[in-house]
Amino acid sequence: MTAVEVLRHLGGDDRQMKLSGHVGFDSLPDQLVNKSVNKGFDFNILCVGETGIGKSTIMDSLFKTTFESEPVSHHLPTVSVTAHTYGKSELQESNVGLRLTIVDTVGYGDQIDKTASVKPIIDYIDQQYENYLQEELKIKRSLTLFHDTRIHACIYFISPTGHSLKSLDLVCMQQLDSKVNIIPVIAKADTVSKPELVEFKKRIVDELKKNNVKIYHFPTDDETVADMNASMNSLMPFAVVGSRDEVEIGGEMVRARVYPWGTVEVENENHGDFVKLREMLIRTNMEDLRETTHYEHYELFRKNRLQEMGFADSTADNRPVRLYDVIEKKRIEHMKEMETKEEQMRQMFVDKVKQKEAELKKAEQDLHSKFDNLRKMHAEEKRKMDDKRRMLEEEINEFNRNKAAAQAAQAQAERDLTTHTGSSPVLGRKSGKKK
Ligand code: GTP
Ligand code: MG
Repeated sequence: MTAVEVLRHLGGDDRQMKLSGHVGFDSLPDQLVNKSVNKGFDFNILCVGETGIGKSTIMDSLFKTTFESEPVSHHLPTVSVTAHTYGKSELQESNVGLRLTIVDTVGYGDQIDKTASVKPIIDYIDQQYENYLQEELKIKRSLTLFHDTRIHACIYFISPTGHSLKSLDLVCMQQLDSKVNIIPVIAKADTVSKPELVEFKKRIVDELKKNNVKIYHFPTDDETVADMNASMNSLMPFAVVGSRDEVEIGGEMVRARVYPWGTVEVENENHGDFVKLREMLIRTNMEDLRETTHYEHYELFRKNRLQEMGFADSTADNRPVRLYDVIEKKRIEHMKEMETKEEQMRQMFVDKVKQKEAELKKAEQDLHSKFDNLRKMHAEEKRKMDDKRRMLEEEINEFNRNKAAAQAAQAQAERDLTTHTGSSPVLGRKSGKKK
């Protein structure tokens, strides 16, 4: 008897199993719901959009509350990513414990180098995946208690230009689409006319396709929501209007924007797609967004990260990989890396010392040549002074000689005068002066 035949004989082939009465599998959905409700769950939204485009207002409108937010300046040198988490006390609806994190991109699109705007966002997303992975890799992990901050939905706010997407929009969405579920929305849709909006949406969808940007599509595999999700997919990107102000319409207070020419109601489906966004994001597809994040985006991150760490499912010759071998291989790699680094640092140190030595030698030579120059200058000066002194001495000697000669001549002249006149030379000189 073959193994299959044995199994069949024992009733091991599931196709031959027959239930003889109601067993109760149909209670499974209720069990799952109860478990989820009791545990509570995390849902994290990332808002990407230029400063002042209406991100905070849409979040307030979505959750019918006022989250903390401050208007941001347009002059920030870099983009920063800030996260705020709201728990049961703020958001409890019936007995569902939702822990919501809203992540904001502060200063997005305000820098001269636009591409630098994207990096902090990517880094933030990766960091949340990394945190989850680290928890998963722990020996004593507690994923049920772990605060899961992985981004489940990225709402990308497109400026209501009516023209087309900006290059920053495309660059950013291209980098984000393998990491998160992107739901693009046209912000401040009340500033674009209805016919323009239809054209604008078409152009955006074409541009996204042309640039291979993959946006999130509402799933159509569950028949209960397939039709609705398919029709919603065709309306993407949603054109939304947000407001924090409420006005009374038909005896009811509703969020709206009041203009001199009329009132735009946030939740009026003739005025915008806001209700569709809320329906799709919160009511119908929140669980799918969470699952896609876990099974697609996080899985991709995890795969790449583990490969980077040196893990593999099998060796080149198709043998299973032992964890010990991976760690040993990584340890050897790490040691080699450390040795190379150490050698580089040693070389750098030697180079630095040599450079300093050369500098000192040069300074010493400079000093020597300066000293030689000074000595030469000093000797030259001394020689000049000696020459001058000699000349002066000669001049003095000459002068003294001349003086002595003049005195002798004068004495001689006086003597001569006395012998001729018999008068004293003084008198003779005086009589001469009188003349
Ligand atoms: P920062 O956080 O400073 O980057 O701004 P933000 O993107 O959060 O924009 P915020 O929600 O603070 O709105 C900025 C301004 O736009 C406010 O004056 C809002 O009233 C206005 N605003 C928000 N939503 C809309 C909208 O749908 N239509 C129009 N016309 N204005 C809006
Ligand atoms: Mg804001």
